[in-house]
Amino acid sequence: MRPLAPALLLSLLAALSTALGCSRGQAEDLLEQVRDDDYRSNYARAPGWPDPQQPGFGPHGGFVDIYVNEVVSEAIEAGEPLSAWPEGSIIVKDGWEDADAEALRYVAIMEKRGGGEWFWAEYEEDDSVAYAGLDLSTCTGCHSSGEDQVRAFGLP
Ligand code: HEC
Repeated sequence: MRPLAPALLLSLLAALSTALGCSRGQAEDLLEQVRDDDYRSNYARAPGWPDPQQPGFGPHGGFVDIYVNEVVSEAIEAGEPLSAWPEGSIIVKDGWEDADAEALRYVAIMEKRGGGEWFWAEYEEDDSVAYAGLDLSTCTGCHSSGEDQVRAFGLP
């Protein structure tokens, strides 16, 4: 069983860092989760962002794809006026350098946690975590001007 030991140790460390609330570990888990969901195929495109690689206005790459998970889609379909996106909402943004989506610049994710706060994460093209955290000022500085801190589209 010896060869298993390093892998086991690594997964224990990962579990521990998540348990301790390490933002980086949580961001890694979140990226894994949306990839397991196959977000590029299974999530809806955000309202107002129907086209692949639409020109973006933020710092996340010149051309963006913005996807929303089921929780957001269902809230939009229900159409009830909301003052905040529900817990479990996830928005994923692929930011590309080019209109042909050959060079990925950043992947950015927002996840609505209990207590009404967003967890923010941004990743380099090699998946390393550039920024991560709850209510992160690096992100909210720009995002606070949006409805419930979402810049690309408004609340129902
Ligand atoms: C300089 C301003 C600015 C900063 C700083 C910024 N964003 Fe954004 N972000 C935007 C704009 C503008 C959009 C709308 C889409 C676009 O134009 O690219 C956006 C869109 C997004 C989206 C799609 C959902 C939405 O809110 O529209 C995500 C996810 C996102 N940003 C994550 C982040 C994360 C994570 C950080 C911090 C690491 C961050 N952003 C920092 C300006 C900013």
